[in-house]
Amino acid sequence: MAVQPHFLLLTYPAQGHINPALQFAKGLTRIGALVTLVTSLSAGRRMSKTLFPDGLSFVTFSDGYDDGFKPEDDRDHFTSELKRRGSQTLNELIVDSAKEGKPVTCLVYTMLLHWASEVARAQHLPAALLWIQPATVFDIYYYYFNGYGDIFNNCKDTSYAIELPGLPPLASRDLPSFVLPSNTYTFALQMFQEQLEQLSQETNPKVLVNSFDALELGAMNATEKFNLIGIGPLIPSAFLDGKDPLDKSFGGDIFHGSEDYTEWLNSKTKSSVVYVSFGSILVLSKRQIEEIARGLVDSGLTFLWVIRDEQKKNEVKEEEEEEEEDHLRACREAILERQGMIVPWCCQVEVLSHPSIGCFVTHCGWNSTLESLVCEVPVVAFPHWTDQGTNAKLIADVWKTGVRVVANEEGIVEGDEIKRCLDLVMAHGKTGEDIRKNAKKWKDLARDAVKEGGSSDKNLKAFVQDVGEGCF
Ligand code: UDX
Repeated sequence: MAVQPHFLLLTYPAQGHINPALQFAKGLTRIGALVTLVTSLSAGRRMSKTLFPDGLSFVTFSDGYDDGFKPEDDRDHFTSELKRRGSQTLNELIVDSAKEGKPVTCLVYTMLLHWASEVARAQHLPAALLWIQPATVFDIYYYYFNGYGDIFNNCKDTSYAIELPGLPPLASRDLPSFVLPSNTYTFALQMFQEQLEQLSQETNPKVLVNSFDALELGAMNATEKFNLIGIGPLIPSAFLDGKDPLDKSFGGDIFHGSEDYTEWLNSKTKSSVVYVSFGSILVLSKRQIEEIARGLVDSGLTFLWVIRDEQKKNEVKEEEEEEEEDHLRACREAILERQGMIVPWCCQVEVLSHPSIGCFVTHCGWNSTLESLVCEVPVVAFPHWTDQGTNAKLIADVWKTGVRVVANEEGIVEGDEIKRCLDLVMAHGKTGEDIRKNAKKWKDLARDAVKEGGSSDKNLKAFVQDVGEGCF
C-alpha cells in the first residue's frame, strides 16, 4: 500500500515566510498530503490556527527568543540557536512520525534555513527549498556567486545595466541590495551563499518558487544548474482559484490587526482608494513618513494606510531625539483623519481584493507584489532594500503593472514625487489605462497557472508524485 505523503515544512518566523508557507501547506493538503508545519514559539503563539485545514498539524519550538528577535539582540547567537534547536526539533519529529505510522517523506524549508537540508541528508530524506522571492532574484544570487561577481562590483552607477542570461538588463537599483558594493548586511549575503552551497551538495536539488512559469519565463530556467519549479502564486484560494471559497486569509498573522476598515472601505466608490503598506519589517524614517503623508494629502485621494506599531515607536524615538515641536505633524494628522484611515495591520489580501481599492503604494515585498497582481491592483512601487528593487523593476518595466518612485539625493522620496506617481496610476490618462490593462492580463495569467492543468498546478502535483515515488 502506498504511504500517504507527509511533508515536514519548516518556516522562518517572519510574516513574509509564514504566509506563503501556509498557502503551500494548504495546497498540499488539498491534494491529499499530510503536512506538519514547524516554526518558532514566538511566531506560533501569535498565529491563529482556526483556519488550518484537516491534514495540517502545527508544531512550535523555542529558539531561545520567545518574545521574538529584536534589532538590539545578538544576530549570530539567534541564528546559531535557531539552527541548533530547529535541527533538534526536526530530528525528533522525523523519529516520532515514523513511530506513529506517518513517516515523513520530504522536508521543505523556507529561505534562510538552509541547515534544514543537512538534517534531511543525515536522515536520508529528500528536501526542497521553498523560495519566497522571485526566481529572478534566485538567479541573481546564483550568478553573483558563480562567475559574475566582478560585474556586480562594477555596478555602482544607476545608468549602467548588467546583462545576465535569461534576465532583463538590470541597473544597480534593480539588484538585490545585498549584492551591491554598498551592502552592510554581510551576514545576509553569506546566508544566500551558504544556501547555494547546500543545494549544490544535493544530487537532485529542488527549488520550489512562489511564482509561475509565465510570470518569469526566462528566469525559471536561466541557470543550467537549477531548474526552478514555479508553484505559485501562493495566495488564499478564495481570491485565486476558488477551490476553497472560505480560504480568505493566510491565517498566520503575527501582528494584531484592526477590523474596522471593512465598513469604511464599503462606503467608498469603486477603485477610489489608495492602499499604502510597507510590509512587516520595514521601519521608515520620520521624514519619509511625513513626505508620504504630504503626497497623499496633496493628491486629494482617499487612502488606507498601514502604520505598524514599530513604525510609531520609531517616530516617537526620533521626536524625542529632536526635541522640537512638530507643527507639520499636528497639521498632517488633522487632515489625515478626514481624507484617510490609518490602521496598525489589516488582512492585506482582503483589502486588495476590495472593489474600492484603486492603487497600492508598496515597498514591493514579493508577497505584496504577487498579491497586487492576483487582485489586479495597479502599483506605485516604492522599494527599499533586499529583493524589493528587483521586484519594482519587474512591476514597472517587465509586466508594466505600475510606476516606480524616484528618490532624491538623500534617498528620500518626496511628497511631490509620490503625488506625481499617484496621479499617473489613478488618472484615466494613457499610463493609467495601460497599467490597468496589464494588471488584468497578469491577473488572468496568475489564475490560469493555478487552475486544474495550469503550470503551477501541474508542477506541484508532479513534485508530490516524485516525492511519493522516491524519485529524488
Ligand atoms: C520580507 C522582505 O522584506 C521582502 O522584501 C521579501 O520579498 C519577503 O520577505 P515583508 O517585508 O514582510 O517580507 O513583505 P511581503 O513579502 O510583502 O510580506 C508581507 C506579508 O504581510 C504579505 O503577505 C501581506 O499580505 C501581509 N500583510 C502586510 C498583512 O496581512 N497585513 C498588513 O497590514 C501588512
